[in-house]
Formats: sequence, structure tokens, C-alpha cells
Amino acid sequence: MSHGTMSVPHKGLAHDEVLQRMKEMRSEDARWKEGKTFSLVYYAGEEISALVKDAYTMFMAENGLSPLAFNSLRRFETEVVAMAADLFHGGTEAAGTMTSGGSESILMAVKTARDWARAERGVTEPEMVLPITVHPAFEKAAHYFGVKAVHAPIGRDFRADVDEMEKRITDRTILVVGSAPAYPHGAIDPIEEIAALAKRRGLLCHVDACVGGFLLPWAKRLGYPIPKWDFEVDGVTSISADLHKYGFAAKGASVLVFRNAALRRHQFFTYGEWPGGLYASPSMTGTRPGGAIAAAWAVMHFLGEEGYLKLARQILDTTRTFREGIAAIPGLRICGEPAMSVFAFEATDFDVYALGDAMEAKGWKLDRQQRPPTLHLMITPAHALIADQFLADLRACAASLQRGEPAPEGSAAMYGMAGAMPAEALDGFLLDFIDGLYGTPA
Ligand SMILES: Cc1ncc(COP(=O)(O)O)c(C=O)c1O
Repeated sequence: MSHGTMSVPHKGLAHDEVLQRMKEMRSEDARWKEGKTFSLVYYAGEEISALVKDAYTMFMAENGLSPLAFNSLRRFETEVVAMAADLFHGGTEAAGTMTSGGSESILMAVKTARDWARAERGVTEPEMVLPITVHPAFEKAAHYFGVKAVHAPIGRDFRADVDEMEKRITDRTILVVGSAPAYPHGAIDPIEEIAALAKRRGLLCHVDACVGGFLLPWAKRLGYPIPKWDFEVDGVTSISADLHKYGFAAKGASVLVFRNAALRRHQFFTYGEWPGGLYASPSMTGTRPGGAIAAAWAVMHFLGEEGYLKLARQILDTTRTFREGIAAIPGLRICGEPAMSVFAFEATDFDVYALGDAMEAKGWKLDRQQRPPTLHLMITPAHALIADQFLADLRACAASLQRGEPAPEGSAAMYGMAGAMPAEALDGFLLDFIDGLYGTPA
């Protein structure tokens, strides 16, 4: 008999009842299908969702841990990686694997760099130089794998400052990183300069294209001025890119591609002495969901170049509507020159967090950012139909704040408080927060 807050029900429920309960539980979830959210879900319509769902459920039970048992999954994965490598100008030498998402791809890129530098250069206290705008998964990797994260400030254009990065390189540096683009302001770091620096100093260079990897190539083909960021650039040694973002695959799908298979060998884990058998695994997880691998292969074949180009055109057209609309609102300013559909804006003469709260009261969920305070947008096809309503609400909310009217109460106060806290206090605050979230059933 358990004494916890909840036990496994004594008697099971009927199929329909289980689903009915779950439907009720989701009733207050974020309304992503209606374009009310600007992160977390990349939705491109029912036709694509239906295909992804069918492919996912077809392989829901299969396990990517054993490519010997499931040759289909091995084929899907190697073909997905080959298609991605081709898109990123990897030529015939490029080699990679799929992972469960951007964070796992980044974790594996850092672990690979650490093991490569240990084997090739004898580095035992590794460091990596990161522009402050890289995704926190690099901090996580530093924490997990004992690699020191050395932070470099960014320039006024929100891009990595390569001189500042170079100043931080030591004998222990193993890796430099650039993003294409970085999440906070959508700026593409100067990858050619970062990769040249890496080459000059004998370092590896990772490009985090988790958000841009499956959009930038299409944007370039459509004529947008996209700087070089992939294996075309000499010195780039690995790239992460998420299929579950602008690849429109099911969640749990990313690729990590290396310039060659010799680098990738340092990613793998093997253990030959286990009584349970000979063990070899490519990435962090043991069991790997077959559904996510299968759905990624399926959506790439379903959309093809034509489908991806069509979606990219729609996303970038909608982005232009949003950006021009926001830039025309008095008191609002877009940060830097975002490369694609991910960007941020700041308020010049009122509290941008209060604007976030006012928009939230109208049903719009906008992510708050800090240093400097901004609101963040990530545009998908789901936003094409709601752009005008969004801009009208934003205009009205901004005008009200400019007149000095109060915003409805929301998270502005919390962000204000967090902004004033020293780093250790902030970590404690966040730990308490997450502890609370996972404490007891709601
Ligand atoms: C640039 C960038 N890299 C990495 C990630 C991490 O991806 P995931 O949440 O799939 O782990 C994100 C997520 O938004 C991102 O924007």
C-alpha cells in the first residue's frame, strides 16, 4: 500500500474513458493550432500532421537502439542524415546520427570535441568558447561533461564578436561555437570568421543550426541574403539541426553531422564487458523511439524540396508582415537584423514585460527574454492567418502603455525581480521553481 499523493488505480479504465480524461486535462493547454504561441510547437497544417502521425504510430514500438533488429530504422536514419548532410554541403565525407533533439545533438557535439581533443591533443582540462547567445544546452554539456564554458560578449548587432572569442582561447580550448541563427535575436553569427579562427588555432568548430538548419537552405534558394554557415565554410567541423523544428517532423528528431566519420567515432559509446551482451550506442539515450526516426524520414519524403520551399516562402512572407508591422508601432524596435523567422523586439519608452502581460491577457503567449529585456517571436505557417489580429492587439497594448495606463498583472514583476538578483540567488530561485513544478500532482 502506497502512502504517496497518488497510486496506480486499482481498476483500469475503459479505452474511451482514458482518452476522454486526457482530453479534459489538455483543455487549458497553450493553443498552438490557433497560432497563439510563438515557441515550442512548429505546426504546418493537418495534412502534414496526419502523415507524421501515421508514420510515427507505424513504428511506435520499434527501438532504434538495435539497427540489427530493425533494418528499416537503420535505413531511415542513415537516409535522413545523408539528406541533411547533402543539404548542408557535406559532400561524401560527412557522417552523422540522429538524436532526440537539439539539446542531445549539442551534448554529443561537445562530448565528441572533448574526446577528440583528449585523443589528438592530450587536453585534460578542456574549455570551449561560447558567444553568450548560444543555447543553454552548451552550458548543460559543460556541466555534464566537465568542459569549462568560457563566455564571449556579442556585438551591438547581436552577433558573436570574433575578436572577443579569440581573446578567450587558451591551450586548453577545444571548441568554438557559432549559431545559425541564435535563438534570442535570430542573428546568424559570423560563421566564416569563427571557422577561420578555429582552423588557425587547430580547434573544432560547431555550428548550432538547430533552429535554422531546415529553413536557411530554402530561404537562400528563394533569394534571401543568407551568409554561408554550413560545411561550405572551411573549418566548420560539425552541425546540429533539428527536424522537429522547421523540418516539421515529430518531436524527438534532430541530426548531428560531422565533416567526416573520423570525428564521429568520438561520439560513440561502446562497452564490451557487460554480462548482458556487447553494447554499442551512438548517443545519450539507450532506447531510441522508432516513431521519431520514421516520422522524420516520412516528412522529408512527403514534402520534398518543393514542399519545403513552399512552406519556407509562406513562413518568410508571414515573418515580413510581422516584422514590418512591429517596426511601424511607436515605441517598439526589432533587435538587430534577424536572418529568418526567429527574432525579438524591445520597447524604447515603456516596460516590454508589461507589454507581454497585456498581450497575454488577450490570449497571446510571448516568451520574455532578458539582457536586454525583449519579447520573442518564432513564426510558423500557423501564424499566417492571425498576423493582422496580433498586430492590432500589439498596437493597442503598446499605445495603452505609452499613455501610462497600467498593464494587467502577469510575470513582469517576476522578471523585474529576477533581473536584479545575483547569479547564485537566481539559480536557487530557479531550482525552487522547477522543484515546485514537479512536486506533487496538480
Ligand atoms: C538555436 C537552438 N539550439 C538548440 C536548441 C535546443 O533544442 P531542443 O529544445 O530540441 O533540445 C534550440 C531550441 O529552441 C535552439 O533554438
